[in-house]
Amino acid sequence: MVLFFVTGNEGKFREVSALAARFGVELRHSRTPYLEIQADSLSDIARVGAQQAFGLLKAPCFVEDSGLFISSLRGFPGPYSKYVFLTIGNRGVLKLMEGVEDRRAVFRSCVGYCGRDGRPLTFEGKAEGRISTEERGRGGFGFDPIFVPDEGDGRTFAEMSVEEKNALSHRGKAVEGFFRWYLLHKEE
Ligand code: IMP
Repeated sequence: MVLFFVTGNEGKFREVSALAARFGVELRHSRTPYLEIQADSLSDIARVGAQQAFGLLKAPCFVEDSGLFISSLRGFPGPYSKYVFLTIGNRGVLKLMEGVEDRRAVFRSCVGYCGRDGRPLTFEGKAEGRISTEERGRGGFGFDPIFVPDEGDGRTFAEMSVEEKNALSHRGKAVEGFFRWYLLHKEE
């Protein structure tokens, strides 16, 4: 049985397909635009998204919703990360953080899966870290050049290979949890 990852974000697909290869999950990319609700909770967004996507594809599929939560900004931009990245970008975030000593931030990811029973399940992951004082690295996407994970060696996500980022990232952890569950429960 083929499993669809429904996303318009090529960076997300690159990361998730590297994990699928490692876990032996047969993965297909669907760019089908599904309706993404606006909400304060990533799991609500992922759950509704997975149901929407299943309704369109009529096949087992998952979506992933993620965001960057900055401590000194009381969790901003959180679930609104995509919009903030597209509007003010990394430079804008660095500007908001000028002179700010507390640079703690956490990336959160939530996978929403929907199989043939139509009931969505969610799997979460997080990566704690710091907002750097300048952009570093050319890999990855989004806020990767300004995020330094605590579990790493001081490099930003954008300075890591896909495999290195997956081992530490919010998405890597959420997707790994999901794939472990999926391999035990997949529908034939
Ligand atoms: P959404 O999950 O499509 O709502 O988008 C979340 C947004 O958060 C992305 O467009 C990025 O700007 C940002 N984001 C989520 N995950 C990552 C990541 O792993 N690296 C960098 N930025 C990310």
